[in-house]
Amino acid sequence: MGGLGDFSSGENICDPGRPCHSVACRMQDPNFVQRAFAAIAPRYVLANHVLSGGIDVLWRRRVAALARAQPPGRVLDLATGSGDLAAAVAGACPGALVVGADFCAPMMAHAQRRGLPHLVVADGMALPFADGAFDLVTVGFGLRNMADYGGAVREMARVLRPGGRLMVLDFSQPAPWLRGAYKWYLHRVLPAVAGLLTGERGAYEYLGGSIESFPSGSAMTALIDAHGFQAARCFPLTGGIASLYVAEKPGAPN
Ligand SMILES: C[S@@+](CC[C@H](N)C(=O)[O-])C[C@H]1O[C@@H](n2cnc3c(N)ncnc32)[C@H](O)[C@@H]1O
Repeated sequence: MGGLGDFSSGENICDPGRPCHSVACRMQDPNFVQRAFAAIAPRYVLANHVLSGGIDVLWRRRVAALARAQPPGRVLDLATGSGDLAAAVAGACPGALVVGADFCAPMMAHAQRRGLPHLVVADGMALPFADGAFDLVTVGFGLRNMADYGGAVREMARVLRPGGRLMVLDFSQPAPWLRGAYKWYLHRVLPAVAGLLTGERGAYEYLGGSIESFPSGSAMTALIDAHGFQAARCFPLTGGIASLYVAEKPGAPN
């Protein structure tokens, strides 16, 4: 297979029996992902803030504000990592029980240090939670790294109650006027700066390709709706560099 292919269906395109070194496969290989995040964990938060010029904080606040608009009782922040999104949601929804889950323990050590009390080491592809356990599932910059996007979204639907909400925050394809400069930043500037900050330039060299092959806009809303949700909507942020996708699990009681 020559190019990165069309991942909008959520299916895996590569033969699992053969080694594949495409950017998209590498960034969805659970062993590679765990090792990469364990290596950058100590400087992850700093690198995020520097590389985004602090805008990542505003993006997470947007998720938290939307969560607060319909206050949830139980929230799962999947791929919680250092807990940035979980902390923003917990701050905005003081009455909520916010559970953070991630399969990389070194990343979650930071979440623990910032005082998040409910942390579970778990794989997003097979969550250790009961059907319908949560009112809201959030996932910030984590779905892109999961082995099967559609399977992961379906698992999020399983742990949500009927009528529960999903919020996916991730990078997306920016508006056409921004694309050239953004591509240059992603492939040239970001790996160099991230390498200096974290000492792990290699982990960031895959980021640009993984963003470019990740379903964006209507492709992502279609993927979400095809895997257990309805009425998925996309809210582009900062010229579409990131997007917030919001959807509802069907079957809310009247
Ligand atoms: C870029 S960090 C995002 C952290 C945090 N959500 C944020 O907003 O900054 C991605 C996280 O996704 C986690 N992750 C990736 N694939 C996962 C999976 N299959 N199950 C659980 N966590 C996963 C990684 O371990 C990593 O901590």
